[in-house]
Amino acid sequence: MEENQQEKVLYSAVQPSGNLTIGNYIGAIRNWVNMQREFTCFYAIADMHAITVRQEPALLRRRTLELAALYIACGIDPEQCTLYVQSNVSAHAELAWVLNTVTYVGEMERMTQYKDKAARHAENVNMGLMDYPVLMAADILLYQANLVPVGVDQRQHLEITRDIAIRFNNRYGETFRVPEAYILKEGAKITSLQDPLRKMSKSDENPNASVYLADDRDSIMRKFKRAVTDSDNRIVASDEKPGVTNLLNIYAAFKGCTVAEAEREFEGKGYGDFKLAVGETVADALAPVQAEQKRLLADKGYLAGILKCGAESAAYAARKTLSKVYRKVGFYRGE
Ligand code: TRP
Repeated sequence: MEENQQEKVLYSAVQPSGNLTIGNYIGAIRNWVNMQREFTCFYAIADMHAITVRQEPALLRRRTLELAALYIACGIDPEQCTLYVQSNVSAHAELAWVLNTVTYVGEMERMTQYKDKAARHAENVNMGLMDYPVLMAADILLYQANLVPVGVDQRQHLEITRDIAIRFNNRYGETFRVPEAYILKEGAKITSLQDPLRKMSKSDENPNASVYLADDRDSIMRKFKRAVTDSDNRIVASDEKPGVTNLLNIYAAFKGCTVAEAEREFEGKGYGDFKLAVGETVADALAPVQAEQKRLLADKGYLAGILKCGAESAAYAARKTLSKVYRKVGFYRGE
């Protein structure tokens, strides 16, 4: 079955936990915006995945809405894609249950992320944490997705999704499309401002290490001013200069230029001026996104309407797959 690009389904989701960083923006959100023109996109806010670790209920609800507003503010167009909240579409939980019966405990116990999280949350190794990959498989398979954009940390989850789909198809007959990883064009990896050899993370304990999309101009300027560089005072990208390279990458990404152009622009300048320019560029780029997010959050009715529409169209697509699954496994469906 050959399809053109527009008909290809792309599925992605993000958990509404933690504050997103400029690394998430460059690595994920910006790409979502571009992909919505190319594919039939489903974008979910994965609140059901989020509760596999302890969440403060009021905060989870607020972050869900904030994330929806942020996506729209960044250019996700609810007219062009399906933007919805995972728990608003009950088919996710329903399909996950069926998929549980073709997934082995042993393979879940071997998942890297499960082992990491179980070690980090030793007091709360709940069934949901172990079942996380099955719910993720349900997300993807419900929409018969062709493509799933994933970073390295989610590769193994996509692999298991493929295994589960193939296993189900073999046992019950052709039901699911087997999805593929959509490898993003290698954008620059954004690293910590305090330890430039490590990835910038939304859960870093050092508040100066990450620039959050919600940071105000003063915090942004302060964080860049304190960014770790080196003592040789040349503004060029190289492996020996991870701090300066990271700042050049950030500057180029937000300015929309190449790193070589950025190097030329700052030739002969000192680190102080350079950091100031990077901070200003990032703050200038984020200001309109933040203003738009704030405007959207003030209009709860509008957001609720968007998410309701999204959930309805997601539910419609999901229901088709789920009915097929229920028929295949032999559930009684009436006459
Ligand atoms: N587990 C993903 C993450 O933490 C979020 C996610 C949930 C997801 N369901 C998905 C990603 C389906 C891709 C496809 O990043």
